[in-house]
Amino acid sequence: MCGIVGYTGRRDAAPVLLGGLKRLEYRGYDSFGIATVGSAIEVYKKAGRIPDGDPGAVGLVGCTGIGHTRWATHGEPNEINAHPHMDCEGKIAVVHNGVIENYAELKRHLQERGHTFRSETDTEVIAHLIEEKYDGDLLAAVNAVLPLLQGSYAILVIAGDTQRIVAARDASPLVLGIGDDEVFAASDMTPLLEYTERVIFLEDGDVADLMPGRYTIYHGGLEVERPIELINWCFEDTRKGGFPHYMLKEIYEQPQSFYETIRAGIDEHVRRMVMEADEITLVACGTSYHTALVFKYLAESLCGIPVRVEMGSEFKYFTPPLRGLVIAVSQSGETADTIAALKMAKARNCPTLAITNMQGSTVTRIADETLLMRAGPEIGVAATKSYMAQLAALMEILNIRCDGEFDDALSHAHLAIGDVLLLDIQDAVDLCSKVEHVFFVGRGPFYPVAMEGALKMKEISYVHAEGYAAGELKHGPFALLTPETPVVAICTPGPTYGVMASNIKEIKARRAPVIAVGVAGDIELPEIVDIFIPIPNTHLLVQVLTASVVLQLLAYHTACALNRDVDKPRNLAKSVTVE
Ligand code: M6R
Repeated sequence: MCGIVGYTGRRDAAPVLLGGLKRLEYRGYDSFGIATVGSAIEVYKKAGRIPDGDPGAVGLVGCTGIGHTRWATHGEPNEINAHPHMDCEGKIAVVHNGVIENYAELKRHLQERGHTFRSETDTEVIAHLIEEKYDGDLLAAVNAVLPLLQGSYAILVIAGDTQRIVAARDASPLVLGIGDDEVFAASDMTPLLEYTERVIFLEDGDVADLMPGRYTIYHGGLEVERPIELINWCFEDTRKGGFPHYMLKEIYEQPQSFYETIRAGIDEHVRRMVMEADEITLVACGTSYHTALVFKYLAESLCGIPVRVEMGSEFKYFTPPLRGLVIAVSQSGETADTIAALKMAKARNCPTLAITNMQGSTVTRIADETLLMRAGPEIGVAATKSYMAQLAALMEILNIRCDGEFDDALSHAHLAIGDVLLLDIQDAVDLCSKVEHVFFVGRGPFYPVAMEGALKMKEISYVHAEGYAAGELKHGPFALLTPETPVVAICTPGPTYGVMASNIKEIKARRAPVIAVGVAGDIELPEIVDIFIPIPNTHLLVQVLTASVVLQLLAYHTACALNRDVDKPRNLAKSVTVE
C-alpha cells in the first residue's frame, strides 16, 4: 500500500507534496515524509497523520521533491522507518510503494561493503544501491539498480545535485501528471486533479525521467511514447463538501454513483463478451467480494447463468477449474490478490473483464475489457459509493442477459436510494453503540448484503459483527445470542419472507433484540421485532440497494456515536496492494 507523490516545476514543492499526500492518505496513514532539493536534499518525516500546515514540513525549500504516506510492512510505524529513505551521505532520497522481496540479501551485501542502515525498511536498500552507482547521472544509476530488485515497486528518486526525479514502476501503480512547466507523479490521479487533467499511466517496467516541464519515458532502455489521457474526475469531488466525514458524503453520493454508472451503459465489446458467456467467475476481495456474491444470487435465480465467486486471496493458491468469462471486481483496480487471480485467468486463456472505478489502474491493463464504474473518487477507507456503483455495473450485466427486463427498475433505483438516506435509524444506532457484538442476517441476495453490513460495522465502529445466512444461525451461533447481542435481519417480501419471519421469532425466543429492515407497509414484522426500519416497497434489485444503504448508515452513525475515526479506521488502508 502506501502512497507516493513527486513534483518538479516552478512552485514550492513542499505544499504540493503535502497536499498530494493528504489525498493519498487512504492508502496508508501511519507516518509520512517529504524530501525536497534545496541547496542539498532537505527531509521532513513524522509518525502519525499529516497535520494541516505543519510548519516543519511546509518550510522545506526547493521546487523539486518527493513524498510518501505509509502503511507499514517492514518495521513499525515510526519516524525512522517513515520514507523518504536516504543513502549514507544524504545525497539520494527514495520513496517507494511495494515490497522488495530480496531486501535482506541486498542489505547484507551492502552492509558488508560498509553502508550504514538507519531503518528496518526494505526500501532503504534502494537508496544505498543507487548511491553505489551514482556518478552524476541519476537515470543511469536507477537503471543500473532496478534489475537487482525483486518484488514490486513504484519509486521516485531524487539526488541533491539535480532538479529531476527518476520514477519507475513494476507491479505498483504510478501516474504522471503533465502541467505547463511542471510534472507530477503519484500513486493515483487524486493528487493531480488540483493541477492538471492530463495524465499518463506508466506501464510495468517503465522508467521516467522528470524535469520541470519535460519528461521522457523509457522501457527496456528505449524511449517510448505513452498516451496522455484526460481524467474524468474533478478536484471538487475530492473535498468533504461540508460533510463531517468523507464516508457520509460518499453514502449520500450513492444515488448519483448508481445513476451515473447505469447511464454510462456498456460498450459493444463488453456486451458481446457478457452475452457469449455460458458461465461467469467473479474474483474480488472485501466489499467487492460481497457485490460479486449479490450478483451470483441474482444472476443464478433471475437469469439461470451459472456464477462462481472466488476470493482473490484464495484463488491464486487454490485455483478452481475455470470456464467462461472471468470478471475481476475492484474499486481501486490495484488489489494485489485480485490482480493475481486475474493474471491466472488470463494465463488460462479465459476472456477477462475488469469492473473498476480507477481509470488506468492495473486491472484495466490486464483484463481484455474494462467496465468503468462512475463512482468518482472515494476517499473514505470504507467502500460505500463504489459498492453501489459496482452493483450498478453488475446489475447492468444482469439486465443485458435478461434482455432489458430490469430497465425500469434500474433507471429509477436512484430515487429509492435517495429516499432511504432520510430514514431515522437512531434507535438502532443507540442499540448497536452499546453492545460488543451484532449479527446481521439475510437470505438469498440479502445474505451478502448482511455480510457487507457486518463488514462495515466492524471496520469503522470496531463493534464485533458477523454476517450470516439467516438459516445458519441456529447451527451454532445461536449459542451467542443474549439480550446484549442484537440481530439485524433483512426481511422483505418474496419466497423467503415466511421462513425469515420464523427465524426472527426463533431469535426473539433467545431474547436477542431484533432490528428488522423490511418494506414500508409490512404490518406483521413491526409486531414481532424491537426496531423496524422501513425501506421502499420496490423491485427486488432496488431493495438490495436500499437495504445496503440502511446498513451503511447504521455502521456510520454507530461509529460516530463511539467516537471512532470513521474515514481512517485503525490498521487499515483503502488499497491493499500486498498479498
Ligand atoms: O479496491 P478493491 O475493491 O479491490 O478493494 C477490496 C477490499 O480491500 C475493499 O473492498 C475493502 O474490503 C473495503 N474498503 C471495505 O470497506
